[in-house]
Amino acid sequence: MSEQQTLSIIKPDATSRNLTGQVNTIIEKSGLKIIAQKRIKLTEEIAGKFYEVHRDKPFFQDLVSFMISGPVIVQVLQGNNAIALYRKIMGATNPVEAEVGTIRKEFALSIEANSVHGSDSIENAKKEISFFFSETEIIKN
Ligand code: CMP
Repeated sequence: MSEQQTLSIIKPDATSRNLTGQVNTIIEKSGLKIIAQKRIKLTEEIAGKFYEVHRDKPFFQDLVSFMISGPVIVQVLQGNNAIALYRKIMGATNPVEAEVGTIRKEFALSIEANSVHGSDSIENAKKEISFFFSETEIIKN
């Protein structure tokens, strides 16, 4: 186990239903600390760049349209084994496969409107955090 940081996004389906606080409660109850957070509206260009790795997938355009349909909350979470821990409490990408008690089981509407995103590796966490945050915006202690 090691102290890690991961990027979280609370997606438009969750912000539009006023679920930011409830998602944050699950995050904080898991022991993860929200060390940076901002509410922003993505543009088509920024969402496309963030999800660049999915550009060739059939769901890419719908994913980008959904992610720019309303505000999102971008966050940096810190804690022991934060990357795997956050993926565990998010639950499976497809909410029908997510375990009871996970964020996606509780709140997600579909595989696309699945309420949250979390980085999937140390390398991607670094990239995704620096995509949205400068060093001075991340307060570690
Ligand atoms: P996320 O963790 O943000 O990473 C990529 C997103 O693509 C994923 O969550 C889903 O919301 C979205 N997506 C939409 N359709 C699919 C699909 N068929 N398979 C996987 N991801 C999908």
